[in-house]
Amino acid sequence: MPIRTINPFVTSSSLATSPSDALNEKTPISMPKSSAIRNNRLSQFFSTSPKSKNFDTTLHVASPHRAGFRPPSPQINMPTLSLPTINLTTATGEKSKTEERPMTLFQPPSPAEVRRIARQHAAFGPIGSQSHRYSSRFVGDDFPDPIEDEPPYYFLITTYISYLILIAFGHVRDFFGKRFRREHYKHLQARDGYAPLNSDFDNFYIRRLQLRINDCFRRPVTGVPGRFITLLDRTSDDHNISFKLTGTTTETLNMSSYNYLGFAQSEGECADAVEAATRKYGVSFASTRGDAGTSELHLDVEDLIAKFVGKESAMIFSMGFVTNATAFPALVGKGSLIISDQLNHSSIRFGSRLSGAVIDMFKHNDMRDLERVLRERISQGQPRTHRPWKKILVAVEGLYSMEGTMCNLPGLIALKKKYKFNLFVDEAHSIGGLGPKGRGVCDYFGVDPSEVDILMGTFTKSFGANGGYVAGDKKLIDKLRVTNAGTIFGETPSPPILVQIASALKIISGELVPGQGEERLQRLAFNSRYLRLGLKRLGFIVYGHDDSPIIPVLLYHPAKLPAFSHEMLKRKIAVVVVGYPATPLISSRARFCVSAAHTKDDLDRLLAACDQTGEILQLKFSSGIAGGAAPIRDGLVNEEEREFGKMAAKGVKPLVVPPRWKLEDVIRSGVQDVKVPLT
Ligand SMILES: Cc1ncc(COP(=O)(O)O)c(C=O)c1O
Repeated sequence: MPIRTINPFVTSSSLATSPSDALNEKTPISMPKSSAIRNNRLSQFFSTSPKSKNFDTTLHVASPHRAGFRPPSPQINMPTLSLPTINLTTATGEKSKTEERPMTLFQPPSPAEVRRIARQHAAFGPIGSQSHRYSSRFVGDDFPDPIEDEPPYYFLITTYISYLILIAFGHVRDFFGKRFRREHYKHLQARDGYAPLNSDFDNFYIRRLQLRINDCFRRPVTGVPGRFITLLDRTSDDHNISFKLTGTTTETLNMSSYNYLGFAQSEGECADAVEAATRKYGVSFASTRGDAGTSELHLDVEDLIAKFVGKESAMIFSMGFVTNATAFPALVGKGSLIISDQLNHSSIRFGSRLSGAVIDMFKHNDMRDLERVLRERISQGQPRTHRPWKKILVAVEGLYSMEGTMCNLPGLIALKKKYKFNLFVDEAHSIGGLGPKGRGVCDYFGVDPSEVDILMGTFTKSFGANGGYVAGDKKLIDKLRVTNAGTIFGETPSPPILVQIASALKIISGELVPGQGEERLQRLAFNSRYLRLGLKRLGFIVYGHDDSPIIPVLLYHPAKLPAFSHEMLKRKIAVVVVGYPATPLISSRARFCVSAAHTKDDLDRLLAACDQTGEILQLKFSSGIAGGAAPIRDGLVNEEEREFGKMAAKGVKPLVVPPRWKLEDVIRSGVQDVKVPLT
């Protein structure tokens, strides 16, 4: 099988149509007037992806009359697509030899090639301008907590009332249901002296609240979850208890996958390497690591990971969840203390419980609260005996996937030096996604990786693969290899996965296709800041740190979860909406996952959709304290000026105007403004 050497970042000039060009299947060939162009820019945000069904019958060519005007490009139907080609043979007056292939200066791309490029761009969009790059790193001493804006009380009260109504109706329906439709409720009632195992709040919540909006969750998809994603359309005849596929699909802009660096691609260097490896090694080693499941591929990937994160040694696992679930019991046990961030992932909680260590929690990212817990626990020692703890392990995540916050690594290291605990950082979302070189939180904060004892991460997000790793000192990893249940009982990572990880790592570090990794990292950093700033300026309450590629937008009301999801789907954008139990009951949200595969046009399309949806659903209620406020206007009256001076002297930001920027202004100034603090 020949290895294709296709660089997804290289586009030939004849094909340098932007994806938004490709989107405009119905654009007439005639030159639009300038006002029409402006209007088109907004309407084109909501057209389908380049992969759309009709795409293969259209092609976009640059016309000399249209210099200076890019999207939308004119469309030419395939049957009429005979571009003039200059035949060198006829030009010299020689008799044309029909059996010889004509030598041409310009050959129009074949329909198959056009489809291939469209597919490529649907997975990873070509960069629109070199200014759409940024390098994310933290500069300074104290890492500030993100400012959490709050909506007016009216929103909070009506949110609580909404839940009260839902819960009250749910109980009324259950009350009558249990009496008059016994067949349907027998699993929730005691029978023959046996307690109903299903009857708890989670069960009630799922039946009476979540089921109503179940069509917004777990939508079936097909193909690569890249820049665009194809949803399989479905309907329900029984109020979302079951769904039927309609047989049609919808192409959507994908804001819902943890595809940070855009490696979810079915073409390109990674795909080629994976294909070659699958032919060579097959799809599985059919063994556990401890038995016959260790190959040169495993050792190579472990070596690459250790070097990448700056540790002596690393061990890989076939599942991220299992990595935590089995690593904690291998590292700590009875007589040890685990102090866990309140919002840590369930795999950390699960592993901690399995370990048998005592578990305590501190408030999310709150270094003062962590210090309080440390002092209390260290001074008291183990329960009953009050002996000193055998080990203390503080477990945090690099980037929190529901909040968009980063751990305060400088603060944790300062406490670590003072209280001598071991530090475990789960980099599932930060590895590849943060830092100028994509090496996670240490890279982002400019901290030496030796300061963190255990660096854990997963391959499901930035690497487009699956599995997880733990990296640390050689002696620690050697111990982990022999004491870890995953080694003994878990399936070993498979060859295609290992090669996907290795090639992605090599691309990020520049060993493979130099420049491509850097572009991915810088586009992700730019896109994250651009979208966050745009949403703040439009007036949304956005959680998290400025450089986070996870951008939660607060919706609050339970009814706004499905409404937001449906409004976005109408505009052909796939988003994740999240509510209880993944978030506190009151703070339901939509969560945008930014990728390097997105172009600025994609983000503008999303901003336009949010702008409209925000008006329809009344979601623009930020106060401006968390950023996005309009600059203080010129010509303040005396009183305002005095007030301004007083507040400034106290170091308080005065006169914050709730940001409600116009979409055009957001888009116009976004590219420059993302490169300064997003206040
Ligand atoms: C912080 C964290 N750790 C571990 C995992 C588990 O990883 P995986 O989904 O690859 O099993 C996740 C999954 O999202 C996660 O967010």
